Amino acid sequence: MTALPSQTPADPAAVDQLLSRLSLEQKIGQMIQAERMAITPDEVAEYHIGSILSGGGSAPGANQPADWIAMNDAYWAASMREGPGRVPIPLVYGVDAIHGHTNVLGATVFPHNIGLGATNDPSLIERIARATALEILATGVDWTFAPTLAVVQDPRWGRTYESFSDDPALVARYAAPYVRGLQDGGSDAGVIACAKHWVGDGGTTDGNDQGNTVLSEAELERVHMTPYRPAIEAGVLTVMASFNSWNGEKCHGHRYLLTDVLKGRLGFDGFIISDWDGVEYLDEDLGVAIERCVNAGVDMLMISVEWKRYIELLLASVRAGRIPMARIDDAVRRILSVKQRCGLLSRVRPAERTTATPGVLGAPAHRALAREAVRASLVLLQHDKQILPLAPSARVLVAGRNADNRGHQCGGFTVAWQGTNGNDQIIGGTSIWEGIQAQTPHAEFSLDGDAADATRHDVAIVVIGERPYAEGMGDIRPDRKVAPGSSPAGRTAQLAPYGQSLVNAELHPDDLATIQRIQARGVPVVAVMISGRPLRVDAELAHTAAFVAAWLPGSEGQGVADVLFGAAPFSGTLPMPWPHGDGVWPRGYGLR
Ligand code: GLC
Repeated sequence: MTALPSQTPADPAAVDQLLSRLSLEQKIGQMIQAERMAITPDEVAEYHIGSILSGGGSAPGANQPADWIAMNDAYWAASMREGPGRVPIPLVYGVDAIHGHTNVLGATVFPHNIGLGATNDPSLIERIARATALEILATGVDWTFAPTLAVVQDPRWGRTYESFSDDPALVARYAAPYVRGLQDGGSDAGVIACAKHWVGDGGTTDGNDQGNTVLSEAELERVHMTPYRPAIEAGVLTVMASFNSWNGEKCHGHRYLLTDVLKGRLGFDGFIISDWDGVEYLDEDLGVAIERCVNAGVDMLMISVEWKRYIELLLASVRAGRIPMARIDDAVRRILSVKQRCGLLSRVRPAERTTATPGVLGAPAHRALAREAVRASLVLLQHDKQILPLAPSARVLVAGRNADNRGHQCGGFTVAWQGTNGNDQIIGGTSIWEGIQAQTPHAEFSLDGDAADATRHDVAIVVIGERPYAEGMGDIRPDRKVAPGSSPAGRTAQLAPYGQSLVNAELHPDDLATIQRIQARGVPVVAVMISGRPLRVDAELAHTAAFVAAWLPGSEGQGVADVLFGAAPFSGTLPMPWPHGDGVWPRGYGLR
């Protein structure tokens, strides 16, 4: 996919002219992003709402492209209503299309970022972003909360898989291609990108999601700010504030980080959006929290339900002089400028756009690209007796909880916020088992490996590892609370963690049992691990002839079978260190 002409040139005069026509109520409305379940088109018109989002898994109707187009068309039309006291400004709709447009049934599900980090191929990232942009536009949506530019430092973090690497330089190499792939589609085919989460999301103590990142400013800049520079240079139009704290102070209220550094020193000229109700972590008094957040430099507020209360409080704060009018004008000017630069002010209604066409979502070319990415993401960690590649004539036993489970191979933020189980929600893809069946007619499935028989099987492929998770529910930690320093006065997000150990045999003991059962029958084992992060697999390694890290490959599981059977070589390398035995396989490690 070649990058199309860049976004619409900036037109500050047009933006200022539009701003000059707005009342305070209309300006405040532009600063509000409400979740789709909490607002109707009529309310969009009445309150001049600037944006709506789908939280993870929040989908209209039967969750088909036509339902999304109809929903977006209704919201857009409401925002463009003419009449007394009305200034038509098109609403912008945002989603978490972070590894494809994966809220929508039938979308291409690309590997999560940790696997893309293993490919070490920035050009592939730009192609994936462009394909994702086309699938987003096919549903009438204009904005994705991607790329995540987190630089993960602790695999206990539940969002490790959303990070490309623990190396800021590798993440930085991916930032600009990703932004270009999304945004540079020209006035009709550009999608607004969102670099997130500013700043230090991947560096919290013990990997606690939304926790406290304790670092000197020099280290915060070297590790966590580095990837934002190329994103800003590439023209990223939005940045999302992070839930975490820096040295005990929440990013959502951090004027120095949001205004002085991001907008000032780094020259970011788009707009900053808060994360999901992230304002509320600043103070028990919502009005105080909103004032702190907006005065610190957040321009648009992402709100799950209470958007009317936010509007009331914002109006009161401005009228009382606790939020200067100049700050409101700056925020709204940025929002209008982004809409203008992405071509939204001149874009026709969603139902009439040439980009909103059937057949783009899950298109064969996109699935082929995803399959290519899966192949390039696989990392061969152990390879004894040169058992790989397998011959098509090999008599293969396939086992393991994750062998025939497209939901598990996709991970979180897929159809549902916490992902799905089984195959039926991942429409159009292939499980790893289905991919193996396409490679050889001699394949037999046995979930727990109990059918293993050395007289009938030359080799067993056992697919092990994690079930899907997202955010704090993927954390590995001993307790159930968000880390100290990351919660507002008295409130902690009670998200049950994934587990208490990074040892796979403790998290998923059935994996080792299956491997041992098969090996004890004299059948050599090739283990394939589905996971969002490195896990300790010393016990499993002791019983396998080969071990492959497949990360979260997404809908095209056949890409795994391609490499196991030699259709493509192993080329992936570790995007972050993988502890094993008394040592560690370093970033960049990968057998050929
Ligand atoms: C979540 C995540 C953020 C996502 C947003 C909207 O809490 O922190 O990455 O974009 O909410 O779903």
